[in-house]
Amino acid sequence: MCGIVGVIGKANTTEILLNGLEKLAYRGYDSAGIYVNSRTGHDYLVKEPGKISVLEAAVGPEVQGTIGVGHTRWATHGIASRDNAHPHVSEDGRFYLVHNGVLTNYLVLKETYLKDVHFVSQTDTEVAVQLIAYLAKTEQLSAKEAFRKALTLIEGSYAFVMVDRDDPDTLYVAKNKAPLLIGVGDGFNVVCSDALAMLSETKDFIEIHDREMVVLTKDDVQIEDLDGTFIHRNSYHIEMDADAAGKGAYPHYMLKEIDEQPAVMRRLLDEYLDADGQLNISPELLQAMNAADRLYIVAAGTSYHAGLIGKTLFESLVQKPVEVHVASEFGYHMPLLSEKPFFIFLTQSGETADSRQVLVQTNALHYPSLTITNSQGSTLSREADYTLLLHAGPEIAVASTKAYTAQIAVELFLAVALGRHNQLVLAEQFDVHHELGLVATGMEALLSEKEQIETLTTDYLQTTRNAFYIGRGEDYALSLEAALKLKEISYIQAEGFAAGELKHGTIALIEAGTPVIAFLVDEKTIAHTRGNLQEVTARGAQALTIVSERFAQEGDQVILPSVNPLLTPLLGVIPGQLIAYYASLHRGYDVDQPRNLAKSVTVE
Ligand code: F6R
Repeated sequence: MCGIVGVIGKANTTEILLNGLEKLAYRGYDSAGIYVNSRTGHDYLVKEPGKISVLEAAVGPEVQGTIGVGHTRWATHGIASRDNAHPHVSEDGRFYLVHNGVLTNYLVLKETYLKDVHFVSQTDTEVAVQLIAYLAKTEQLSAKEAFRKALTLIEGSYAFVMVDRDDPDTLYVAKNKAPLLIGVGDGFNVVCSDALAMLSETKDFIEIHDREMVVLTKDDVQIEDLDGTFIHRNSYHIEMDADAAGKGAYPHYMLKEIDEQPAVMRRLLDEYLDADGQLNISPELLQAMNAADRLYIVAAGTSYHAGLIGKTLFESLVQKPVEVHVASEFGYHMPLLSEKPFFIFLTQSGETADSRQVLVQTNALHYPSLTITNSQGSTLSREADYTLLLHAGPEIAVASTKAYTAQIAVELFLAVALGRHNQLVLAEQFDVHHELGLVATGMEALLSEKEQIETLTTDYLQTTRNAFYIGRGEDYALSLEAALKLKEISYIQAEGFAAGELKHGTIALIEAGTPVIAFLVDEKTIAHTRGNLQEVTARGAQALTIVSERFAQEGDQVILPSVNPLLTPLLGVIPGQLIAYYASLHRGYDVDQPRNLAKSVTVE
């Protein structure tokens, strides 16, 4: 949610900022801006509503400097306009600030300190920069001390980077509950919300912890807490190619990421299986999970849907009860917990505020926890007792695809390892390498038939305003995910429904031509779901079936290759992802950056 970049000590600052913002566009893209200072008396502030391409077009060749900050915004306070875009500048023109997060006490601060200040935006960020200027002036504080004092007054979440126009040799950086990293270079330093943004400049990064501030010059990284105690922290090296975050020859990141799924399955086998086919998951983690009487999976959106599939995996292979919860609900309405709970946080980004606030609470209660994430070193990874990585590579499209299937695969590894730890027959007999290998091959077969899905999508969904996915058991969980994909990028009002529930009310919405797409994968309930399809077609719906090869009948449209029944969701989701992709494409929408959304949701 909002992306931040900062550079000091580089001649091509503008280029680095704009490239970095492009890489961070997944974090928000309703307006963007940069501030660049040449340190020879010239400085430039360029801000535009709209995508980063609009900003790029507005940045003239004269905008050059050796220090600068940039921001891509996902609006929280105030509409997407030039005035509300970052960087924000203090009334006296001295301080330029970019911010990611939400300041909860900004109205109090405004009322208490800034009654006489003229504000040009509706943002909470402008309060922060005006406050820093106010403190510098009225209390005669240096930029650093004014920055620090403001941080002690501010409540809420923030990642801040600030430039002082009067002394443009320093970036002032701070973070609380929003991601921010320092990238270390030779004679330069950078700062960014996500390492992806700066991989072309450096692969060495330093974490900043909550409520720390950093004084960054081109040769020095000075980390301190808000009391002024210096902190030494080593950098770590990221082994990722800057091109991994590129689109390559693909028209959209989403299509590239859908296509990468077989490779991700195989990479995960390499990462989690040793040469003897044993799962290398730490015995401490397995013991901690084993000691629990119930597993609680907490997640949001697509990750929550992956958790629903995980429930079946754990309950089948480990015989342990599992509850799956939406993070934003769980945090504020915690159910009665079992005596010995173990928490699993599923989060692609590792930064989702809704999930994090639950982790903060479960940590306070000293419950053990695991984060399954694609982002090494992310907040939820750092704050949980254990981490398992998704190894999916950067997921840039806002609609999550490969992270979902990677989450299910990692849940499978964990369930099998835990089941084996307890000598449960089903887990001991589960040949992970073979079964997931079949899934990867099955995915490839489905992905080689994209044209068929594209044609079905235009035939069934080209003009519709609404659509239903239905299924039972795992097919229901899959329906929820397929419907979410469809609505978030094609704006078709799509609902995932338990097939048997339709007749209890929602069937009233079925009209002539309403597309109803059924997942027919769960052997126990296929006959019933086919019956539910009859009910809707009798009322004019257009039925489309996605069915396992073993149960296919004449007239079924999408046939899924046969794999272990526990793993069919890994295949079933592929047509769901492709239908969403083609529906969005043919309606002329921005597939990778759908309206109103951002990838990493760091506000509650
Ligand atoms: C939908 C999607 C979102 C995320 C959700 C949680 O395609 O990507 O629903 O799954 O915002 O994000 P993470 O997994 O980063 O916690």
